[in-house]
Amino acid sequence: MKLLILQGPNLNLLGRREPQHYGARSLDALSADLDALAEALGVALVHRQSNHEGQLIDWVQEAGAWAAGALVNPGGLTHSSVSLRDALIGVELPFVEVHLSNVHRREPFRRTSLFSDVAVGCILGFGPEGYLMGLRGLVAHLRAAAAPGPGAG
Ligand code: DQA
Repeated sequence: MKLLILQGPNLNLLGRREPQHYGARSLDALSADLDALAEALGVALVHRQSNHEGQLIDWVQEAGAWAAGALVNPGGLTHSSVSLRDALIGVELPFVEVHLSNVHRREPFRRTSLFSDVAVGCILGFGPEGYLMGLRGLVAHLRAAAAPGPGAG
């Protein structure tokens, strides 16, 4: 099973950007933690980060052809991007929405997500650990969805 890990604007700055909200772990370190868990779970990850909305949309569209699902932290686009939302819906890519910070404890404009109502699930406020929780949840969800239902066979 191949999964997309999609990181939105400014997440390349992890480790030095507002550590009180986002922690001290760099994006590379976080990605390595995810790869270690992926290996244990028997899945493969493709990591992508961009500061550009159109690039993120292109990657989502491409992933529609090869990915079973995605972990998505849209960064600030969480609160504004109809187009990235539309791309995920358009290619029917099941995804888990992850945020390092608990956006509900912050400025009011962060309380609206254009992704939560179409995500498989959402994890927020657990820092880098949330990505690991999200990966476990996504894989469990996809495996359950692929398993034959009761009475099959
Ligand atoms: C974030 C929360 C967003 O509001 C913010 O713009 C980010 C990071 C998070 O992971 O907590 O860039 O998605």
